[in-house]
Amino acid sequence: MSWPEAFAVGYADWSAQMTEDVPFYVELACQADGLLVELAVGNGRVAIPVARETGRRVVGIDSSPAMLEQARGGAAEAGVELDLRLGDMRDLELEEPAALVYCPARSLLHLPTWADRRRVFERVAATLRPGGRFAWNAFAFDHRIAARLDGQLQDGPLPHTIRYAVGANRIDIVLDGGGTSSLWWATKNEWLGLIDTAGLEIEALYGGFDRTQLDDDSREYVFITRRP
Ligand SMILES: C[S@@+](CC[C@H](N)C(=O)[O-])C[C@H]1O[C@@H](n2cnc3c(N)ncnc32)[C@H](O)[C@@H]1O
Repeated sequence: MSWPEAFAVGYADWSAQMTEDVPFYVELACQADGLLVELAVGNGRVAIPVARETGRRVVGIDSSPAMLEQARGGAAEAGVELDLRLGDMRDLELEEPAALVYCPARSLLHLPTWADRRRVFERVAATLRPGGRFAWNAFAFDHRIAARLDGQLQDGPLPHTIRYAVGANRIDIVLDGGGTSSLWWATKNEWLGLIDTAGLEIEALYGGFDRTQLDDDSREYVFITRRP
């Protein structure tokens, strides 16, 4: 498991700067006519505004009981309905076809292998209704930034050290207090391969949440795909 419970403590502070993705996912949700599903919902940082702005229930799946507990509290406080489910996104199953499945905050990078991601994409494709969308974002790995940060202590709500395992295309975030969260980066072609293999169609590939087109200098992949 690449998300130890130690990360739940302080996640709200850790992610406090991450705000620009919220209106992007909210807009997609407002356009979706049907079931809304967030993979790796965490503490509900995105799902709560999505439920509030759409006035609809959001199914949120996560493998961390501690994160789901925070999402439950946040939803109750905000007066919105989240259908929170403890589970692994690789085993996604829904009772009805979804209009939108989305996965913010680079969470697909917590899956260690291409086969793990392929499983998720196949499960998502199987659960989307025709025309339904799957959207996610992930960083475009930059070796220059990696080289600069490697081994450095980072302050903040969760003091940690970042370590790069280049051969394994993995980043380890090692908390001072114990616990490691790992991210396995993916290239643009790996994402395109997953989309292709799952039989999805690419609708847009942006280089940021402001919907600028991806170019050679982009640092983020923001994908919108669709089940034909
Ligand atoms: C960076 S947080 C993102 C939380 C939230 N989506 C957000 O945007 O703030 C990553 C989340 O992925 C969850 N996670 C990691 N691997 C998972 C898996 N295989 N299935 C479901 N959830 C997973 C973790 O428990 C954690 O809550």
